[in-house]
Amino acid sequence: MAKLNKYINLEIEDLTSKSDLMLKCLSRAEKVAPTDIPVFIKGETGTGKTLLAQAIHNSSKRKSQDFISFNASAMSETLLESHLFGHEKGAFTGAVSQVKGKFELADNGSLFLDEVADMSLSAQAKILRAIEYGEFTRLGSEKIITSDARIISATHKDLFHLAEEEKFREDLIQRMSGVTLYVPSLRERLGDLPAMIANEVRNCAATIGKQITSLHPDAFDKLMAHTWPGNLRELHRVIQVAVLFTDTEVIREEDVELDQKTQKTTNTDEHVEVFDTSDLTLDSAILRHVKRVFEFTNKNKSKTAKTLGVSRSTLDRKLEEME
Ligand SMILES: Nc1ncnc2c1ncn2[C@@H]1O[C@H](COP(=O)(O)OP(=O)(O)O)[C@@H](O)[C@H]1O
Ligand SMILES: [Mg+2]
Repeated sequence: MAKLNKYINLEIEDLTSKSDLMLKCLSRAEKVAPTDIPVFIKGETGTGKTLLAQAIHNSSKRKSQDFISFNASAMSETLLESHLFGHEKGAFTGAVSQVKGKFELADNGSLFLDEVADMSLSAQAKILRAIEYGEFTRLGSEKIITSDARIISATHKDLFHLAEEEKFREDLIQRMSGVTLYVPSLRERLGDLPAMIANEVRNCAATIGKQITSLHPDAFDKLMAHTWPGNLRELHRVIQVAVLFTDTEVIREEDVELDQKTQKTTNTDEHVEVFDTSDLTLDSAILRHVKRVFEFTNKNKSKTAKTLGVSRSTLDRKLEEME
């Protein structure tokens, strides 16, 4: 997949965070990666589940073998099974030659079942057997094929809820989720947002070929106050648009186009700060944010550090920088 190219060699240790929830996810991922234990990744759409799956494979002893990714959404029953298990020539109309399925291709490597909640019950039964015994048959054949694939799966849906509705097999959940990893939403890791904004601005500016020197504090505040239902994918889009449409080297508030429905209403009764707009660098925007949260918590250092998702010593350093 083209979109993964940039991350094709990414390992778990390349992923960093200041958020406790994300750090927990990464440390669990690091421990499970070298084993063959099936990993189940849950989290909202756009949080980085697919990227984490690739990083787990790259951090495993299977890294020199293939990482086979399969997205189950929006696919007919026959097509889905044919993709997963392969088919023989003539197995169905249009099956003009023998084709290997993803399970077979992932032999000795990793098989990533993305959007796993969207698979039919019949496919689930076959997947269960394939995972449990490493055995399956191609469509149109009785011959048993074996494969040793490490299973990584992901969904943004609640599988246990689907199991209650009998849309997902409970035994398959148990099989797939040797270890469950929760990738937090962007709202749950706001401490990472300033650095991510800075990164995205740099990357998008480089890709689009534009010189962007800074982010206006109002633009920064607008980004920080957003609820980010689309998470990192939405952040990427919003920053890309801002970089593309700004007429200056500064990203201004009006360049930040957010989906109105999901915007928090800002409380205009709060004290209004007048910024020194001569310094619009990303670093000073970060410092201003630290200051604002510090004031918001009535100068409670532990609350501020927790809200920002940074350690006390990092916070102390930032506060010193501001003096
Ligand atoms: N740690 C990260 N830092 C920066 N960008 C990321 C990170 N994780 C994911 N992304 C980007 O966010 C977008 C969504 O990631 P993806 O793994 O496809 O999410 P999901 O599978 O949860 O929907 C992708 O464009 C990806 O490149
Ligand atoms: Mg995904």
